[in-house]
Amino acid sequence: MKHNTHIALGLLGATLLAATLSACAPVTRTASGQICNAAAAKALMMKDHCLTCHSLTKQKSGPTFKAVAKRYQGNPNAEADLYAHLTSDDVSKMPDGDTGYHKCIRTENPERIRNMVRWILDQ
Ligand code: HEC
Repeated sequence: MKHNTHIALGLLGATLLAATLSACAPVTRTASGQICNAAAAKALMMKDHCLTCHSLTKQKSGPTFKAVAKRYQGNPNAEADLYAHLTSDDVSKMPDGDTGYHKCIRTENPERIRNMVRWILDQ
């Protein structure tokens, strides 16, 4: 009985999550259960022009976020590595062969950056 209740709650949770995602409610959870505010992540990417070079699935000058998430899948340091990559002015190789500084996000709130990184890794 207890077990069945648990399953029922699980299903309810999954349904709610699906409904939440399709309604684009701001706060969701990543596959690994971390809190992620998708709307805030996207707002920060718009503000910092990330989408000029990146898209979820369309190859632009930068890798797609799907590809990035796949590459880092199972990497326990993914969040820390990407955070460092995006905030340290790492030199990037641009597809045209030029070397450039990867867009460095300047924001007073590191949690906003971490939230965006979590969103990218969850794609
Ligand atoms: C001028 C184009 C350009 C802009 C603007 C840009 N990127 Fe990139 N990005 C690239 C290129 C090219 C690469 C691949 C080379 C590299 O990893 O440095 C890349 C790589 C990445 C990666 C993968 C890094 C890794 O270690 O695999 C992430 C994540 C990323 N960008 C996120 C962002 C975010 C978030 C922003 C906005 C703050 C942003 N990018 C702005 C061009 C850009």
